[in-house]
Amino acid sequence: MKSFYVENIFDEETYILIKDYVYSHMETSDDFNYAPYYGRYWNLIDFPDHLQHKILDKAKKETGIPDLDIAYTQCIKYKKEGDSIPRLDNHIDNFYAVYTLDITIETTLDWPLTIEDTNVSCKDNSAIFLKGDEDFHSRPEYPGTDDDYMIMLYVNLVPQDHPIMRDVEKLKALSKPIKDAFLKTVIPNNVNRNAGSKTKKLPWGNY
Ligand SMILES: [Fe+2]
Repeated sequence: MKSFYVENIFDEETYILIKDYVYSHMETSDDFNYAPYYGRYWNLIDFPDHLQHKILDKAKKETGIPDLDIAYTQCIKYKKEGDSIPRLDNHIDNFYAVYTLDITIETTLDWPLTIEDTNVSCKDNSAIFLKGDEDFHSRPEYPGTDDDYMIMLYVNLVPQDHPIMRDVEKLKALSKPIKDAFLKTVIPNNVNRNAGSKTKKLPWGNY
């Protein structure tokens, strides 16, 4: 398995800055909506340059890959709402990424990510460098109460100057209504209903 785990990935000061930014993002976004089939709120998040640099510097150091960039980052809050319970069925990702950096921002429960039959912890300020297009991953049955939650970032890391970055720039340049309609339709791919998602490519093509 190529995925690996890093505890206390950021120094305390950086971790607090990132956490505060995520909280303010969740409170002020108008599209942080609940996806019932995943049992989670989600949208995309862009960090200011100084925090993006901190994340990329850490990613470059831990992976040993010097030319990484961020294609896009999902901001996620897992929580029970009504009859919807957070779940993640076993799957591999259909989005090209060198790694997806799963950063745990804050969690009230112990809900690991199972990668190729190994349970990997998700603790505050820990991260998994997930090779999600090769290593099957899922989560065990959700152990939380109505009040529990888990706030995560999923940072998709790709090589700088990779063609996908040009498509991402085009997507970001779309007007807000068009971008909103596009994102609502295609992301996230519902792996809980389409666990063989490797065969379903996103409309921006194969990489
Ligand atoms: Fe995945």
